[in-house]
Amino acid sequence: MFRSFGAGVECMKFRETQVIVFANQKGGCGKTSSTVATAAAFASLGYRVCVLDTDPQCNATDNFGVDPDTVIRQGRYTLADAYLSKVPAAHIAIAPENRFDGFLSVVPGHRALSSVAARLEKEIFSLMISDGMSDLDAEGIRKEHLLRLRNSIDSLRGQFDVVLIDTPPNLDFLMTSALVAADWYVVPVFASGYDLKGLETLTRTIDKVRKQYNPALKLAGVLLGNYDRKTLLDKQVHELLRERFTPALVFATVIGRSVRFREAAMAQLTIFEYSPGQEAAEHYVSLVKEMINRGAKGGVNATLNPFPSQQTVEQVIGADPDELEVAHG
Ligand SMILES: Nc1ncnc2c1ncn2[C@@H]1O[C@H](COP(=O)(O)OP(=O)(O)OP(=O)(O)O)[C@@H](O)[C@H]1O
Ligand SMILES: [Mg+2]
Repeated sequence: MFRSFGAGVECMKFRETQVIVFANQKGGCGKTSSTVATAAAFASLGYRVCVLDTDPQCNATDNFGVDPDTVIRQGRYTLADAYLSKVPAAHIAIAPENRFDGFLSVVPGHRALSSVAARLEKEIFSLMISDGMSDLDAEGIRKEHLLRLRNSIDSLRGQFDVVLIDTPPNLDFLMTSALVAADWYVVPVFASGYDLKGLETLTRTIDKVRKQYNPALKLAGVLLGNYDRKTLLDKQVHELLRERFTPALVFATVIGRSVRFREAAMAQLTIFEYSPGQEAAEHYVSLVKEMINRGAKGGVNATLNPFPSQQTVEQVIGADPDELEVAHG
């Protein structure tokens, strides 16, 4: 049913693998749809893509027609094993058959991801009891646990152009470890009911991750989805985001509202493989082109290197949160 991925550095378009996490602790703001559709867009343009599903809900895994229980029955691993047994992601990745000509692989999630943090904590507790470990030792082990995903993903570097990580809707261990592992983060927000205060909380977490674990983590952009061109409010929200975060921090591409996302997901297809989804798919092609063009201005060996500079991000996001508040009309 599944086969191992067959990429390799000689097949890559980017000089280096770019790890991009879709992060927002708010539920239902388009993290999974964007991860899946961006992956499909990259793959359809001939880039090697690997999707990692850190969400115990496994929606992204599902969307690629991969069943975690079948994976386990076949004696293979899921992402939970990267956390619990330090299995390299390259040993977990599978290329769903007849999808994207092998350009797309998936590191499947599993519902067991929901208990990973508790299980790792329990291990620390046992060590403290049996080995008389100190609190300081425990802190060191906790740090190592947070780095496990990053270390596991290292095995994918040089094999794929992009590694895209879908995350659960909270700021717990799984989300934090994904931020520790990534080069870039994209913040998906829905035009309807989005919440800038939530973005502030996310930013604070990202600042801590940067300071303690991953100083290289950069914002690729805020992505506005579920966007209705006919609604004035949605247009205003986009303008406001660009005004507040500077145009460089908000993707010019917006993802239009379309029922095709839900339909495609129910059919376990991406919008690229679901024929009524063509229009929706074009938005993601445009997003991916925007990401790439912001980089080294094309070229086969271009490295994805979207603007803006870290300094701009800090200047803008470091602003007074009240300044950033949006009044809903
Ligand atoms: N552009 C869009 N237009 C209309 N519906 C959309 C769009 N993008 C996503 N959706 C739908 O919105 C719902 C939430 O999207 P999605 O599952 O991607 O969010 P999420 O942030 O991953 O949610 P969770 O936090 O639960 O993981 C889904 O039913 C999805 O099909
Ligand atoms: Mg999701």
